[in-house]
Amino acid sequence: MLYTPIQFRNIELKNRWVMSPMCMYSCENGLANDFHFVHYGSRSQGGTGLVVVEATGVEPRGRITNHCMGIWTDEQAEKLQKIVEFVHQNSDSKIGIQLAHAGRKGSTWNNIQIPIEEGWETLAPSPIPYHPTERIPHVLTVEEIKEQVQNFKTAARRAVKAGFDVIEIHGAHGYLLHQFLSPLSNIRTDEYGGSFENRIRFLLEVVDVVNEELNEDVALFVRISGTEYAENGWDIESSIELAKILKNHKVDLVDVSSGGNIHGVKIPVFDGYQVPLSSQVRNQAEVKTGAVGLIKSTEQAEEILQKGEADLIFIAREILRNPYIAVQGSFEMKEDCFFPHQYLRAKISS
Ligand SMILES: Cc1cc2nc3c(=O)[nH]c(=O)nc-3n(C[C@H](O)[C@H](O)[C@H](O)COP(=O)(O)O)c2cc1C
Repeated sequence: MLYTPIQFRNIELKNRWVMSPMCMYSCENGLANDFHFVHYGSRSQGGTGLVVVEATGVEPRGRITNHCMGIWTDEQAEKLQKIVEFVHQNSDSKIGIQLAHAGRKGSTWNNIQIPIEEGWETLAPSPIPYHPTERIPHVLTVEEIKEQVQNFKTAARRAVKAGFDVIEIHGAHGYLLHQFLSPLSNIRTDEYGGSFENRIRFLLEVVDVVNEELNEDVALFVRISGTEYAENGWDIESSIELAKILKNHKVDLVDVSSGGNIHGVKIPVFDGYQVPLSSQVRNQAEVKTGAVGLIKSTEQAEEILQKGEADLIFIAREILRNPYIAVQGSFEMKEDCFFPHQYLRAKISS
């Protein structure tokens, strides 16, 4: 299974390993640099089916920190294009990008809000900060929501031009789109708040405009938090309902993470702790899903796929430790996987 290719639109992933998006906080003015070139390039050399570039701001205030990646200028997209071209020319990997807006969780450093003069006024659906000590965010007007929808559209256009194979919309971890989904962070009384249909409206509008920029050669994923572990908050039932709707809006895969929107909640963490969320979304909404969270070995990843709990395995911290996890797993399982031809002598250990 792990080494069985899978297709999303015209994009074929050679295996089910995905490098999960991970902020590296290493950009100046949102620009990718040599570090990112090596960082993403090396995971492609490791045989990873899909490499997903970190949360990338669709506008300056969409970043979490001043050093996050951005794609609101042509120059930013051109730097990313160099990475995309390297991956396409030197590996079997496909490459995606996560488009994000931090909303009320922006303007931080090391998870602590920075002064407005060093950062910016954050944005949110309602005047509720993530942490009580933080500044009250600016409440988006309907017109401003429409502008943000356009920011995602323009970002998607730039990403497609740069050659990305997959666009992932970041609807998880308490960032702007998740803030709209949750009745705890969204207490609006207009068409973007209140009922489930109203709270998912912003995300669906983003999905639709991003899809307008895509063709059959670029697939669309959405990352969600399967639950936010809070009473009366966004939960797995809401996620399943949303996933059914996303499927009808031409979303190819739902990447199921959790948490991030409600400060201080208790998260039960164990190996594969979010896999049951992926499994429920996959099997009840009948969509393709990605599982993520404390997946660390080939054996564990294979078992998740065999049990029908996910279609893709997103790995984050383990692939930072081991960029070659996909190719190494293929040696263990005696399966085919890309390995740089320059390294072929290392296929034999003695
Ligand atoms: C350094 C770091 C940065 C991260 N940045 C992002 C991000 O940009 N977007 C996102 O959706 N998740 C982000 N995450 C979460 C990971 O993608 C992943 O969901 C989480 O780490 C659990 O997977 P793991 O147990 O394999 O690390 C980040 C995680 C780490 C460790």
